[in-house]
Amino acid sequence: MYSCISLLKYLFCMSILSNCMADRANDVQKALSYYKINETCVFNETEINSKTIKKFPKCDRVYGIIFIDSNTDLTVFQLKEAFKYMKSLVGGLMIEDTTNLTNLNIFATENSSFWIACATYGVFIRNNTQLVDYSILDKIHLYKPSKREECEYRIENNPKLDVSCEDNNLYTYTYLQVTGNLRDCGCQGTIRNVSSPEHYETCNTLYGGLQLNSTSNISNLPMLRNVITMKGLINIENTSIQDLSFFQSLTTIKYRNVESVVINLRNNSQMTRLGMGLPNQEFSDISSVYNGQEYTLVNFENLHGDFCLTISEVIFYFWFCTLSVKNFHAKLCDEQDPKHVICHFESSPLFQHSFCQV
Ligand SMILES: *[C@@H]1O[C@H](CO)[C@@H](O)[C@H](O)[C@H]1NC(C)=O
Ligand SMILES: *[C@@H]1O[C@H](CO)[C@@H](O)[C@H](O)[C@H]1NC(C)=O
Ligand SMILES: *[C@@H]1O[C@H](CO)[C@@H](O)[C@H](O)[C@H]1NC(C)=O
Ligand SMILES: *[C@@H]1O[C@H](CO)[C@@H](O)[C@H](O)[C@H]1NC(C)=O
Ligand SMILES: *[C@@H]1O[C@H](CO)[C@@H](O)[C@H](O)[C@H]1NC(C)=O
Ligand SMILES: *[C@@H]1O[C@H](CO)[C@@H](O)[C@H](O)[C@H]1NC(C)=O
Ligand SMILES: *[C@@H]1O[C@H](CO)[C@@H](O)[C@H](O)[C@H]1NC(C)=O
Ligand SMILES: *[C@@H]1O[C@H](CO)[C@@H](O)[C@H](O)[C@H]1NC(C)=O
Ligand SMILES: *[C@@H]1O[C@H](CO)[C@@H](O)[C@H](O)[C@H]1NC(C)=O
Ligand SMILES: *[C@@H]1O[C@H](CO)[C@@H](O)[C@H](O)[C@H]1NC(C)=O
Repeated sequence: MYSCISLLKYLFCMSILSNCMADRANDVQKALSYYKINETCVFNETEINSKTIKKFPKCDRVYGIIFIDSNTDLTVFQLKEAFKYMKSLVGGLMIEDTTNLTNLNIFATENSSFWIACATYGVFIRNNTQLVDYSILDKIHLYKPSKREECEYRIENNPKLDVSCEDNNLYTYTYLQVTGNLRDCGCQGTIRNVSSPEHYETCNTLYGGLQLNSTSNISNLPMLRNVITMKGLINIENTSIQDLSFFQSLTTIKYRNVESVVINLRNNSQMTRLGMGLPNQEFSDISSVYNGQEYTLVNFENLHGDFCLTISEVIFYFWFCTLSVKNFHAKLCDEQDPKHVICHFESSPLFQHSFCQV
């Protein structure tokens, strides 16, 4: 017999559960209508369990979203058996709220990589209390049709999971979100609404780039002073920021996008200097997470009329990092530099003066 309270609780839980199932059904429909599907290879279910697993298609490319959760009454071995023909999953993956899953070795990755297309839905691994082994992620590649974009990829609240974002292929994602695990590996760069600024003071890696516009709270920027590596792009538009000196410790910018503007400074009327730590430190680097030659831009557009670069900055960004310019509303700073001597060439096309290295 139910007491009133527990009946209410039961109804409340059921309504949450059915909402959640309705959301999942929507996500599945969205994915299935986005891609050109092969009808015989569709897995149109909102949960994988001992009943639905019987419908799992024996195809090398399967269309649908795989949801593994606390109602998944299957072992890793049984899942792996059901998925053994599958080499790619077109849709997405969610593994959440499991209480006895210790590893994710459910896909056939012994002899090849496993691909997940996730244009409409990402990959989520969260709230798995016993999860300790994520080595399979080394063989899993997420992709969107457009190479410029990344899928939503979150590894969150797995209390026993010690995540290193440099291992297991994770370093190739710049928008990855890893929070609330036994160990996390960075902070997120959209700092418009930081509830605990002290969190950022211990951040050495910043994921997702730095996106600031007129709505951003720029009083928090000094707390980025310990960031050493940034993943993603810098995009600062319509702000009153004067320089980027808060990135005093930054030595590395890694981006994934092809042909991207890695530093976009646009319409910041009070910006007079760049001022990042990068050019002054040994082993500094701005490069793609993939090897290979890429065409990468910076944009300095509509800044303060006095916006200038030092000689060290010019050498670092344009000679050492071989960046190209989209707009170059900048001049060379009038400064004494013991390492470099300025030679004046009145007709130099790029700068008012050119520089010589000594
Ligand atoms: C998936 O299942 C839903 C609900 O049962 C149905 O409306 C939809 O047509 C199915 N989609 C595909 C592609 O089979
Ligand atoms: C759909 O998938 C099945 C099973 O893998 C395959 O035999 C069939 O050729 C596919 N159909 C199309 C149109 O690709
Ligand atoms: C987890 O526990 C459930 C229920 O006790 C069981 O059915 C399932 O097989 C277990 N899953 C794994 C991965 O061991
Ligand atoms: C991997 O390759 C080996 C050797 O070719 C083969 O015996 C094994 O069945 C393959 N495993 C899978 C999951 O395909
Ligand atoms: C998942 O973890 C988050 C953060 O710890 C928590 O707020 C949420 O209630 C958890 N969800 C479930 C279903 O346990
Ligand atoms: C910002 O933080 C406040 C207070 O913590 C919260 O209510 C609000 O939803 C947050 N806004 C965004 C966009 O995250
Ligand atoms: C400004 O940034 C916020 C937070 O990143 C974003 O939600 C908003 O759309 C941006 N505004 C414009 C005009 O780009
Ligand atoms: C900057 O302001 C211009 C004009 O108000 C607007 O069109 C543009 O979207 C803004 N950019 C950002 C990133 O907020
Ligand atoms: C900006 O952040 C600071 C520090 O977290 C806070 O004190 C201030 O109220 C914020 N300003 C706005 C406009 O939200
Ligand atoms: C630059 O920013 C100002 C206000 O911040 C805005 O009024 C103006 O439209 C912006 N111009 C461009 C070209 O984005």
